[in-house]
Amino acid sequence: MALKITVIGTGYLGATHAAAMAELGFEVLGLDVVPEKIEMLQRGEVPMYEPGLEDLLRRHADGIEGSTGRLRFTTSYEEAGAFGDVHFVCVNTPQKHGEYACDMSYVESAFDALAPHLTRPALVVGKSTVPVGSAARLAERLAAAAPAGAQVELAWNPEFLREGFAVKDTLHPDRIVVGVAGERGEELLREVYAAPIAEGSPFIVMDYPTSELVKASANSFLATKISFINAMAEVCEAADGDVVKLAEAIGHDDRIGKKFLRAGIGFGGGCLPKDLRAFMARAGELGADQALTFLREIDSINMRRRGHMVELTRDAVGGGFLGKRVAVLGATFKPDSDDVRDSPALNVAGQIHLQGGQVTVYDPKGMENARRVFPTLGYADTALDAVRGADVVLHLTEWREFRELDPAALGDVVAERRILDGRNALDPELWRKAGWTYRALGRPSA
Ligand code: UDX
Repeated sequence: MALKITVIGTGYLGATHAAAMAELGFEVLGLDVVPEKIEMLQRGEVPMYEPGLEDLLRRHADGIEGSTGRLRFTTSYEEAGAFGDVHFVCVNTPQKHGEYACDMSYVESAFDALAPHLTRPALVVGKSTVPVGSAARLAERLAAAAPAGAQVELAWNPEFLREGFAVKDTLHPDRIVVGVAGERGEELLREVYAAPIAEGSPFIVMDYPTSELVKASANSFLATKISFINAMAEVCEAADGDVVKLAEAIGHDDRIGKKFLRAGIGFGGGCLPKDLRAFMARAGELGADQALTFLREIDSINMRRRGHMVELTRDAVGGGFLGKRVAVLGATFKPDSDDVRDSPALNVAGQIHLQGGQVTVYDPKGMENARRVFPTLGYADTALDAVRGADVVLHLTEWREFRELDPAALGDVVAERRILDGRNALDPELWRKAGWTYRALGRPSA
């Protein structure tokens, strides 16, 4: 009989995972403790912007006309316990307030709420990013609290999906990493991921601690690549070099690779920054903090980018923000997402606002979230409205819409044709030809 799957936590990760599991042919029950989220999903609406996810949801959500009906939602752990053979835990582990460590309370609550309802053999699969050592601890907790005792196993299966590509990354992962302590876990997960495995996704089995470390080290490596190129951007600026050319040239070396070498205002989002910090905190607890001291530098290079962008903007408007109008294109931490968590763009906009600048922000999908976290900034409904009367325009999130803007049309409404490209994503020649002073991070000014 086909496996039944529950997905606990229906945020970016869980909602995508639940819909993807239904797409693979399983009966799926998604659970969240927030009733409003469940009601939206039941109506076939996704509570965030993620390309392709709403279509996938509507293809499978029960009650939507023409759907397979394979995907249902609930707020009841009792129902989840009775339904699932495999329970994926997809709740988030945000950074603790004022600390480097991550907050495990959502993961712990999910395990504690599910365990008493595990009355028959089941596999619980952790997908959340957790400090190394958590899986072993949670396995003991499950064994103690689940009525089915030893018939309940735990596996750790870190998730590597990128926002903006969540559906593709879930259905066609680069690799499937599985941390197990018994054979049943591997067997069931091979069954769950049969289709991606058949299409060539490597399935790599290991122990719990290694699986937890794979996620932390993958994100640390990606962050290191970005901060490396941003450090080169700092040197390029000092030496009048061009970091875009430099990245292109070093990227041709296969050992280095072209990806994740885009210099700019740095990385943000709900994952890379907090995962780096949680990794350092955990290494410290383990007495291995020296091994990761370099990550402190990776983090500070990254944070410096935001401050540098603010300084360049201040210089561009004559040394002070008072009475100056600053247009900000982009609020999300990256394009094709509405996520503004730890967004470099919104951080830069906020710093300028706090220093007295009149900031007007426009973002294709992130306006609602940006308004919620930073209500005191100015907002406009279009890019054209945002730049009207601006003394300087900042390009801070590289949405396609911004690359397709007409510099001449924008030039007609600004006070000064001056643009700073914080993402090295616009075409300098196009803007300069239209009479703009174009400046980008890590590139010569003219
Ligand atoms: C990341 C990891 O890529 C993913 O595997 C993990 O599961 C979660 O964290 P995500 O946060 O969605 O995914 O975004 P990603 O595409 O990795 O970008 C992260 C940040 O780095 C963004 O702010 C992006 O703008 C920035 N970035 C990325 C750069 O500044 N330069 C680059 O070259 C690439």
